[in-house]
Amino acid sequence: MNVERLDGRIAVVTGGSSGVGLAAAKGLARLGARTILISRREQSAKRAVDEIKRITGNPAVEFALCDLTDPVAVQALIHDLEKQIPHIAVLVSAAGSVGEQGVTSSGIPRAFATNYLGHFFLIRAALPLLNAAPDGRILIVGVMPALIRRLRTVSYSAVGPEMSSTALMNQAVAWKLLLAHHLAVTHPGGPSINVFHPGLIRSNLLSGGTIAAKAIGAIFNRFAKDHCVVVEYLASSSAVTGASGNMFDDRGRRVNLPSIVTAEHADNVWKASVAMTERALGG
Ligand SMILES: NC(=O)c1ccc[n+]([C@@H]2O[C@H](COP(=O)([O-])OP(=O)(O)OC[C@H]3O[C@@H](n4cnc5c(N)ncnc54)[C@H](OP(=O)(O)O)[C@@H]3O)[C@@H](O)[C@H]2O)c1
Repeated sequence: MNVERLDGRIAVVTGGSSGVGLAAAKGLARLGARTILISRREQSAKRAVDEIKRITGNPAVEFALCDLTDPVAVQALIHDLEKQIPHIAVLVSAAGSVGEQGVTSSGIPRAFATNYLGHFFLIRAALPLLNAAPDGRILIVGVMPALIRRLRTVSYSAVGPEMSSTALMNQAVAWKLLLAHHLAVTHPGGPSINVFHPGLIRSNLLSGGTIAAKAIGAIFNRFAKDHCVVVEYLASSSAVTGASGNMFDDRGRRVNLPSIVTAEHADNVWKASVAMTERALGG
């Protein structure tokens, strides 16, 4: 996977304080991008910024705080960014969670809100900034290709608290693929948008769970990496300029999309996402 310099480009990375987002942000900063991390907690965001600056020698690393499951907060974030930067050349949408319980104030299961809807809120709100960049690129974190192959159904209206956490996670991934397909088809001159499997990346995903989950997390992290080469490749390489609506594995290879990825499902998912946004905004 060849990578190219990103000097003069501006990258925004959600979940940049930990795990996949942190690994991605390190890589983009190392390639010279001005890099802005988005997450909720100030202490871990500051720690990540300091670490990235120290490791990469790039002083242009910042953070902004935002709960991406709150569309009002996402709009405020974008308004702030619009005052500070002329465009977003690379948006890595890598925030995520495992095993979140409960629902948001608009009744959406938190597991789905964090793992899909927050990505949708941000990508939709950031489109003007992404359109302003030549060769803008959106990269959404996915899961391993073996799990992608097992996606068989798309549920539009039944994404609710009655669904199991596994079903919610599956729907979140299916909707990400369909969001990428929809934007690739309906915004042909806009930013490219692709889903990627990051590989096994050192993570805090299981650090807040049960003792058993923490033990699994510790074993997982012993084998995990601190860098995410596929993000560097997809964000920078001219070999993938214009490639859009795809899923890539951690070695930069295209993954066959499941048969649920159709224009009709993509259109329905877009409409359902817009309706959920309006509901969350109280409209
Ligand atoms: N790690 C891997 O090997 C791996 C492999 C395949 C797929 N993935 C997927 O990648 C995603 C992220 O996993 P990870 O390993 O990076 O987890 P992680 O280490 O727990 O990091 C999650 C990041 O997301 C942020 N975040 C969570 N909820 C947020 C919200 N509502 N608003 C804004 N930021 C939020 C967290 O910061 P705050 O808590 O401060 O907000 C943190 O920066 C998950 O969907 C996971 O399934 C991970």
